[in-house]
Amino acid sequence: MAEERLQKYIARCGTASRRKAEELILQGRVKVNGKVVKELGSKIIPGKDMVTVDDKRIYEKEKHIYIKLHKPEGYVTTVKDQFNRRTVIDLINIKERIFPIGRLDYNTSGLLLLTDDGDLANKLMHPKYLIYKTYEAEIIGRISNDSLNALRTGVLIDGYKTAPARVNLLKEAQNTSHVQISIHEGKNRQVRKMFQAVGHKVIKLKRISFGNIELGNLKPGEWKYLTDAEIKYLKE
Ligand code: URA
Repeated sequence: MAEERLQKYIARCGTASRRKAEELILQGRVKVNGKVVKELGSKIIPGKDMVTVDDKRIYEKEKHIYIKLHKPEGYVTTVKDQFNRRTVIDLINIKERIFPIGRLDYNTSGLLLLTDDGDLANKLMHPKYLIYKTYEAEIIGRISNDSLNALRTGVLIDGYKTAPARVNLLKEAQNTSHVQISIHEGKNRQVRKMFQAVGHKVIKLKRISFGNIELGNLKPGEWKYLTDAEIKYLKE
């Protein structure tokens, strides 16, 4: 394990700011493995050395990983697939064990969040938080205003009426339409089934945002760590 400067470690534990931590050290209030350390350059090994401030042991904050991936079509969102198909985890080459927050169909592309923070993942998947997920769907045929309105107010899928959705027609071609749709529920294949309910087959589906978090300019298969602001947004 890598060494770390004592004041940085104290700050990372959330005990005090870096500057305040330096003061604590100079005042002789910090001990490492039971011995007072007053030198600012001192280093410790997090997780191995015992650090106390005013004789109270301090601990590192649990650190979690939060990632956004542009899931390509042709990948499953499970960690391991019973049919040995490629999984989204195969695209992310890190040693920590992470898992997807929610799921996207095998043939859906776009924004997928992954983490090792089970607590937050569970919360975000809970319907009561009403997080809108936005998709761009390419569908067969030209969609009527009546159908767009039906999607907005709710349609029946598997005997269930969907909650109000935000729906915008983006463009129309000769025999296809591009529609943006935001929903906060996550029933199985919900967007595909909603369009089916108004008589249109989805031929391409891409998720472009999850709440305020956007896919941005990630290319299919690319991923990056969420920014501090994005993590803060999810936690709040
Ligand atoms: N709705 C669908 O139909 N498929 C997805 O992958 C996500 C939402």
